[in-house]
Amino acid sequence: MSQPTVRAGIPAGSPAADAAQPAIAIQHLTKQFGAYRAVDDLTLEIAAGEIFGLLGPNGSGKTTTINMISGLSSPTSGTVTILGLDVRHQSRQVRAILGAVAQETALYEELSAWDNLDFHADLYGIPPREKRARIARTLDLVQLTDRKDSRVSAFSGGMKRRLALGRALLHEPQVIYLDEPTLGVDVQSRRAIWDYILTLKAQGRTVLLTTNYLEEAQELCDRLAIIDHGKLIAIDTPAHLKSTYGGNVVEIETTVPTQALAELRALPGVRTVALDGTRLHIVTDGCGNAVPAIVNVLSREGDLTQILIREPNLDDVFLLLTGKDLRD
Ligand SMILES: Nc1ncnc2c1ncn2[C@@H]1O[C@H](COP(=O)(O)OP(=O)(O)O)[C@@H](O)[C@H]1O
Ligand SMILES: [Mg+2]
Repeated sequence: MSQPTVRAGIPAGSPAADAAQPAIAIQHLTKQFGAYRAVDDLTLEIAAGEIFGLLGPNGSGKTTTINMISGLSSPTSGTVTILGLDVRHQSRQVRAILGAVAQETALYEELSAWDNLDFHADLYGIPPREKRARIARTLDLVQLTDRKDSRVSAFSGGMKRRLALGRALLHEPQVIYLDEPTLGVDVQSRRAIWDYILTLKAQGRTVLLTTNYLEEAQELCDRLAIIDHGKLIAIDTPAHLKSTYGGNVVEIETTVPTQALAELRALPGVRTVALDGTRLHIVTDGCGNAVPAIVNVLSREGDLTQILIREPNLDDVFLLLTGKDLRD
């Protein structure tokens, strides 16, 4: 039986992407490396048009998850569909609607920025009459027009990242995934990348990104999935996560004896107490009665040089849910 010779794009007669389906649907996704379970029964749906973040510390399974979404790695069990298309069994159709920016940026170092995009455009079967305009538009978007003829080997990490981003978008995919898009890039590139991601959303595309940067999750994401040890711990909007899991955070500079910690934990309205050197980190239910009681214990048991009461941020939520810092 002869196969149609289509290198990219959708082969005739095959089911097309279905816009009524979730952009990405993950069902019971598991990945086992030998005895180690890197992704553990992950189920979640990402709606079309969302910027969705996978937030987790290093080693939590973000890249492994995203590699299964793109079809780069096959799941031990579970399924992934993109706009209704199964990534394993309909990989060619998926390739046409998915744009990928991997954690490791693989560009042709000896080619110019323009030629890198030109090469990719050919690979994806972009019609020659559209190619020039699309490459020019892409370079503009990622703010590399003035460097279009420079070899990539002369680029900074941030510039390479931006070029990789542009490349992933050249075939105008509906769904884009970005693995740690701003890891190790300079502030200027970070801003450019954030702007670019927001532009994609404004165009109605779906963006899935992984990050362990709090500000990034906060600034960009409509919804977040917090993962740890390959497991889904919480999924919600950033605002909801904060209001659900944190009341108020009380940070105190003190030299309190450790036996006082148990007393603090037992106070009404106190949710968690953690001591890091001389910095005491307490999450309360936010009702206001806990703080005077905390101060009372501390002024009796130790000294209190500074006290700060603030709203919880995503780091606090993360700490509360997993018992560890995002950057650990
Ligand atoms: N090919 C592999 N073989 C064995 N273990 C792996 C492999 N890839 C990833 N892992 C392990 O799986 C866990 C999750 O890794 P990864 O998905 O890269 O995490 P993240 O992207 O969140 O930092 C880590 O403990 C990592 O060492
Ligand atoms: Mg990773």
